Amino acid sequence: MFEKLQKKWKVNGWQLLAILCTFAIGGSLTGIVGRKILQQLPEVHPVGWTILYIITMTLIWPLMVVLVSIPFGQYPFFKNYLSRIFQKMTNTPSSIPPSSNPPSSIPPFSIAIFASGTGSNAQKIIEHFRNHPSIRVALVVSNKATAGVLDKAASAGIPTLLIDKERFFRGDGFVPELTTLGIDFIVLAGFLWKVPPTLIQAYPSRMINIHPALLPKYGGKGMYGNFVHEAVIAAGEKESGITIHYVDEQYDHGGTIFQASCPVFPEDTPETLANRIHTLEHQHFPAVIESVILSKLVKNQSS
Ligand code: GAR
Repeated sequence: MFEKLQKKWKVNGWQLLAILCTFAIGGSLTGIVGRKILQQLPEVHPVGWTILYIITMTLIWPLMVVLVSIPFGQYPFFKNYLSRIFQKMTNTPSSIPPSSNPPSSIPPFSIAIFASGTGSNAQKIIEHFRNHPSIRVALVVSNKATAGVLDKAASAGIPTLLIDKERFFRGDGFVPELTTLGIDFIVLAGFLWKVPPTLIQAYPSRMINIHPALLPKYGGKGMYGNFVHEAVIAAGEKESGITIHYVDEQYDHGGTIFQASCPVFPEDTPETLANRIHTLEHQHFPAVIESVILSKLVKNQSS
């Protein structure tokens, strides 16, 4: 039964537990709060009281469940769940255009996020796809045991993989693990190792990276994080931005998918510029990943 629910709601075991707890606590709170409200009402005929009881509980339940879902980190799930119920009740069509949805018989498209740092981008991507009908974040990979991204993945209930240099560069590139887990697509979100040819060949046109500058400027070996922003400021640039691109065998080099820019002010420090760039990344990266994957799914469907 639990497996069926996991498949139906497209969630992992931890999420399912959090969802079931939310239902249980939300339901109990509905009973308690509902009774308290009804006690305040004047005495009415038993039939009238039953009708009032049903109306009160029906109105309070969604509110209680949504409130409880917040500490359990399941707000996005319940928001979708309740809006689906509402749509069914009112017969409103879903706002997602049918052409962007792959057939439900296709299993969810699985992403692995590779990251070496705090993982603020990874967090946004995880949140974006949490209740997505056809795409899920199935794995977070890091080369650093202390990387904040690993904690973020663990608290979202996403499996993690810590990789070592020797096997990554001179061995099989961890392709067997990725294949076994059914990973379809790789997203580099602040991953600081160069990707070896073995892995690139295993994921042709299915690996993308985000770079915190307007490539081809300020890319290449050693150009990551604040080093990029320092170079941009030192060169007196008036504009910087982000580039999302396919990964090939050279640093920051594959075909550009998307760019967005922001101003660089004379008083900027690498940190203030980094904040502005992070805002741009969080705003665009998850949506760009989604549109790249959906266009691949649509292409697969029609071929
Ligand atoms: C991001 O700004 C990303 O563009 C950059 O690392 C940061 C990771 O931040 N990537 C590179 O510099 C790759 N050359 P995050 O850990 O908070 O997502």
